[in-house]
Amino acid sequence: TTRKPLVVANWKMNKLPSETKEYIEKVQVTLAGQDDVETVLAGQDVLLSKMVKAARESTIAIGAENVYWQERGAYTGETSPAALEDLGVAYVIIGHSERRNYFRETDEMVNLKALAAIQHHLVPIIAIDEAIVTESEGDHVHWVVNQVIESLEGISAPDVVKLVLAYEPTAAIGSGQAMTPELAQFSLRRIRLTLADMYGWEIANQVRIMYGGSVKPTNAFELMRQPDIDGVLVGDAALDPSTFVELVQLAR
Ligand code: G3H
Repeated sequence: TTRKPLVVANWKMNKLPSETKEYIEKVQVTLAGQDDVETVLAGQDVLLSKMVKAARESTIAIGAENVYWQERGAYTGETSPAALEDLGVAYVIIGHSERRNYFRETDEMVNLKALAAIQHHLVPIIAIDEAIVTESEGDHVHWVVNQVIESLEGISAPDVVKLVLAYEPTAAIGSGQAMTPELAQFSLRRIRLTLADMYGWEIANQVRIMYGGSVKPTNAFELMRQPDIDGVLVGDAALDPSTFVELVQLAR
């Protein structure tokens, strides 16, 4: 099975609307005509229409950082998956560690959001974190496996092959200390084994799984050449367009 590599920039809450066009133009110029790596930029909602517009003529896809599970109604302040689809957004990060920790998102909410995203033809990037410090290796594995199982509840095999999972150990996020490639591979393997238990190997081998947490040009190559790591979800390092381009080139 060949899984197309994927490099996703998560801008988090860092860019202004007036800063998006120049960034996207820079990336677009250097990556022109290349589509062997799926390249996604995710930004906060208020940037999305500008991002979609700036990326229109390119192979860059745009992602949201969150979504609500209802399509319409009295949910002040939330963003509808229908609105994202209508805008031309293609991806949505769901259940990022920061959403889980600062905004109390649960596996159940992540699951509802993933189902809603799929219904609206958005590719969910379901983030699996490892926030708790557990007593034993066994608890650790259980925590990760559980998130995968609960986030994917009710998602069919034809849909699961289209989505992306992103494993992010909390201690590696924004700390400058990425997980070692060997440990990251071990964790992603664990996730793929869980998928195999749920859907069988033929399906599990088609699902893309990314690593996230202090990815930068100095460690990206080693991480991405691990057999189960299909891509990287990048925060800090992706705030600079030339560093982001470097990461995309390393994924080829
Ligand atoms: O979504 C991105 C991750 O949270 C990683 O962030 O690259 O700044 O460590 P970072």
